Parts: sequence; structure tokens; C-alpha cells
Amino acid sequence: MITAKSAGFCFGVKRAVDEVKKQIQEGTKPVYTYGPIIHNEQVVDALSRQGVQVIHSEEELSQIHEGTIIIRSHGVPRRIQEKMESLGVTVVDATCPFVKKIHAIAQETGDRGDILIIAGNPDHPEVQGIMGWATGEVHVIESAEDLEKLQIPEGKKAVLVAQTTFNKVKFEYIVEIFARKRYHSYVVNTVCNATDERQTEAREIAQKVDAMVVIGGRHSSNTQKLFYICSEKCANTYFIETLVDLDLKPFQSYSRVGITAGASTPNSIIEEVTEYVRTEL
Ligand code: F3S
Repeated sequence: MITAKSAGFCFGVKRAVDEVKKQIQEGTKPVYTYGPIIHNEQVVDALSRQGVQVIHSEEELSQIHEGTIIIRSHGVPRRIQEKMESLGVTVVDATCPFVKKIHAIAQETGDRGDILIIAGNPDHPEVQGIMGWATGEVHVIESAEDLEKLQIPEGKKAVLVAQTTFNKVKFEYIVEIFARKRYHSYVVNTVCNATDERQTEAREIAQKVDAMVVIGGRHSSNTQKLFYICSEKCANTYFIETLVDLDLKPFQSYSRVGITAGASTPNSIIEEVTEYVRTEL
């Protein structure tokens, strides 16, 4: 059995979760997170039992006038952060520094009068956060085809960045098309190494095993991508949130099993699954 070394919490997610735990330990009340702190129901439920409340919308945010609000690693649009700061609550910004860097690029690009192009999912909170720091024209593209359709006026400069969890290979392809299309443009590769390392390792392991288990939240885009990558290399790839979802019957016929997990999967779940699969093989 091979368990990916890069499975589980990345630096930014760990930092955000640790911040929530710190606030609980310090006895801060009430503690809120703007959106679930990570895409993992087990972790969010455990924190909720310790009094951490999730703010789901801007309307809900408007009702809050005391306590501490933690911004998760995805970040939020500038408008939301300013709204939080105007409420008289303590705001703890746990936006991942790599995402913060993209916010700065978004702002600087607009301030220069250049156009920002984000390779990513327009519905993802990280992308919405980045858009919310842009001070000028901004476009979100999900594929090279989207880029082909984009009309950039003559003489305008464009800056291309990526959602941190964007597929690296897909981004490289988009960069190729981008380079062919424009002269007055530049690219900042903002795909996070943590994602890249996790995806590369998952692909390598999936090539060598009979079955692959991908652990993570159903709504976690980086886990969904891991599942996609592994499925391409290994037909017997299983997506599970916790051990309960794992049907072990087929596992008796597999001799080599690989395990990986998304950035929001706690170590405890990875260890539990690893241990269980080990005893079944
Ligand atoms: Fe940050 Fe990379 Fe994780 S951008 S939140 S360390 S995936």
C-alpha cells in the first residue's frame, strides 16, 4: 500500500484551522468563520460543537456586531473584508499568503489600467475573492477555448494568473495560447506548489496500483481534481469522505492500493483509512 506523502492539509488550510482552534482555546466568544473554514464536514461539525458558527451570506454578516470573524484560506472580496471591519468585531485574516499575493496582483493590474485574466472556476470562493480585489477589467476563463474567445482591445496589456488549485498542465497549455495571442502581456504562475505536488504524486501512485482511494470533501475542488487525475491512470479509483463510504469488498482482490487526500482532509481521517485498508489487504 502506498499513502501519498502530500496527502492532507496544505500549509494555508492548516494555518486557517489552527487559527480557529487558537481562538477557541483563548476562550473568544463568539467565534465565526466566513463560510466553512474548510471543505470538510467532519472538521466543521467538530468545530461547531465547540461553538464556532459559520456565516453563510452577506445578509447574515450584517447581523453580527460582536465577537471574532475569521476569514478562511480562500480569502474574501475586498468589499466583504471592509464590511467586516465596519461591524465593530475583531477580524482575523487567515487568507493563505499565496492567495493574498494574487489579491495584490489583481489590485496592481487594475491600478495600472491593465486587464486581469484569471484561469479558474468563476463560482469558486477563491476566484470570487480575487475578482473582488481587482480594480479594473477582469475575466475568468476555465479553458484555452475560453481564452480564444476573449477579445482584448489593441494596445491593452493583459495579466494572466490562476486560481491556486488550477490544474498545472492545463494552465501551461493556456499560457502557450496566451503567449501566441498577445505581445503586451505577462503571466504570473500562481498555481500553488502544494496542489502541484499533490497532483503529481497522486498521478505517479495511481499508475502503479490496482486501486486508488481519494479522500476528501465532496465540495472540495482540489479533491475532485485529484479524483479526476487518479481516474485517468487507474480505473478502480474511489472517492470517499470518510471510512464509512469505503466499500471494502473489492479490496480483497487488489494487491496494491494507493491513498491520497485533498487539502482539506484531516490527518486523523487519512490515518484511519490507511489503517483499515492495511488490515484488509
Ligand atoms: Fe494556500 Fe496552496 Fe493551500 S494556496 S491554501 S497552501 S493549496
